[in-house]
Amino acid sequence: MPEFDIRPVTPPEVPAIAALARESWQAAYIGIITQAQIDFMLAQRYDHQRLRADLEVPDKWLDQAFDGERRVGFAACEICKGEYKLDKLYIHPDFQRQGIGSALVAHVTARARKLGYPCAILAVNKQNAQAIAAYRKYGFTVREAVTNDIGNGFIMDDYIMERLFS
Ligand SMILES: CC(C)(COP(=O)(O)OP(=O)(O)OC[C@H]1O[C@@H](n2cnc3c(N)ncnc32)[C@H](O)[C@@H]1OP(=O)(O)O)[C@@H](O)C(=O)NCCC(=O)NCCS
Repeated sequence: MPEFDIRPVTPPEVPAIAALARESWQAAYIGIITQAQIDFMLAQRYDHQRLRADLEVPDKWLDQAFDGERRVGFAACEICKGEYKLDKLYIHPDFQRQGIGSALVAHVTARARKLGYPCAILAVNKQNAQAIAAYRKYGFTVREAVTNDIGNGFIMDDYIMERLFS
């Protein structure tokens, strides 16, 4: 299993995370959601000021993975309605399928366990077969299907997946 360096994102690194998100989203979501929805959601979720503010919140975490000097992925987690939620997990397209997602998930689920949460949850687009396959491999199963209106006429059509810690 390769080793990747995982460390928390600091405020000056926020633009690099947003740029990495854009590269990953473009590759992952074309064909699943429209370009307009990609642009809307990136603007909503990766606004630099908002991400910097999130870094100050004790119940939110933003971790990044490096392969040597190269930033190759990130994971965001938060406590949502009392549950530990993996809110974002993105690996650069050139570095996928090398175990980086697996390493980030191991890192963030170790934190959830340490904090005493009985499970970790996440939302994934129902058509995102690659991510669903990865999450199954990481031990997540589908808890329920949800549809959320996120504004501007856009809908998120997701599965909520959970991984129970024993
Ligand atoms: C989904 C994602 C986070 C997985 O991370 P990764 O580092 O590429 O995946 P890993 O190397 O940890 O692979 C774990 C397992 O996932 C599955 N998997 C990953 N990519 C896959 C693909 N393209 N097709 C089928 N299965 C895949 C496999 O079971 C893989 O194990 P294996 O390589 O031993 O067969 C990453 O591919 C990604 O960033 N995708 C685009 C963005 C995205 O959809 N994020 C999730 C949003 S909810």
